[in-house]
Amino acid sequence: MKAVRIHEYGGPEVLRYEEAPRPVPGEGDVLVRVHAAGINPVDWKLRAGWLKEKLPYDLPLILGWDLSGVVEEVGPGVTEFSVGEEVYSRPDIQRDGAYAEFVAVRASELARKPKSIGHVEAAGVPLAAITAWQALFESAGLAAGQTVLVHAAAGGVGSFAVQFAKWRGARVVATASAANHALVRDLGADEVIDYRTTRFEEAVREVDMVFDTIGGETQERSWGVLREGGMLVSVISPPSEETARAHGVRQDYIFIGPNAAWLTEIAGLIDAGHVRPLIGEVFPLSEVRKAHELSQTGHARGKIVLKVVE
Ligand SMILES: NC(=O)c1ccc[n+]([C@@H]2O[C@H](COP(=O)([O-])OP(=O)(O)OC[C@H]3O[C@@H](n4cnc5c(N)ncnc54)[C@H](OP(=O)(O)O)[C@@H]3O)[C@@H](O)[C@H]2O)c1
Repeated sequence: MKAVRIHEYGGPEVLRYEEAPRPVPGEGDVLVRVHAAGINPVDWKLRAGWLKEKLPYDLPLILGWDLSGVVEEVGPGVTEFSVGEEVYSRPDIQRDGAYAEFVAVRASELARKPKSIGHVEAAGVPLAAITAWQALFESAGLAAGQTVLVHAAAGGVGSFAVQFAKWRGARVVATASAANHALVRDLGADEVIDYRTTRFEEAVREVDMVFDTIGGETQERSWGVLREGGMLVSVISPPSEETARAHGVRQDYIFIGPNAAWLTEIAGLIDAGHVRPLIGEVFPLSEVRKAHELSQTGHARGKIVLKVVE
């Protein structure tokens, strides 16, 4: 099959579009014909070797842990899916990924794809949506009537966070550059702050939750906008426990994994019209290097997706 593999860590040039063995589904696995694969920042961070201590791999490796496709074959012991069904997934990041014509995914990590959208849109959902869901609802327990500050609301994770928070009945304050304000308001944000011209901590106060998708200085400046007892959740780096105590607030850091149950629930929200994936650029699989270069700028709008089946 055609796949994109890395044989060494490095820049976008190490991404090789080439022939690779078609995976054979093992016990509990489903072989999926990939129609589209989503790009996430973790893909290029991993490609660059930043995560090799945390996640050791035997190279070559097929990258890409966001997919939408059709069940091609089921492995031994799989009863919950059948050939021809449309599925989507954020599979186990420690196995070969979805920049390929086929991927073997554990049945427990697969969900039925939302019916109302195509494969390209569906491939932009799993990883970013699971991340936003876990941060808002599992970690912070965001409730109706509360206020959340979502950083990088025009990005993959932020665009889902805004929509989920709104659906839950929360008030959403978001940061984005001016060019993305109309878009972020359209997703449901009540207030949008241009982080390039305004210090967000001077424009918003007393929020119940800050969702930190940026880290560094943005995380540091976020403590002061929380109400007492509020919560800072980061997907970038663990916030300091000591600083949280000093501010009388709580903190959490999350690194997400597969979650088929949430994907089923999220598919329901998409089909009911409450949430939609924000798709930015779409590239053919063979142009994966361009997709990584764009993701690496840190300024992609919504999700970048690789189209595998034309
Ligand atoms: N721990 C986990 O499990 C986990 C899971 C998913 C993602 N992540 C991490 O979370 C981060 C975000 O992921 P993503 O997929 O949402 O990335 P992304 O789609 O590449 O985010 C791009 C967005 O960031 C915005 N942005 C850049 N700098 C900003 C700033 N200083 N303030 C506000 N917005 C800013 C850009 O908006 P403008 O163009 O308007 O500037 C752009 O829309 C990545 O570092 C990723 O690795 C971690």
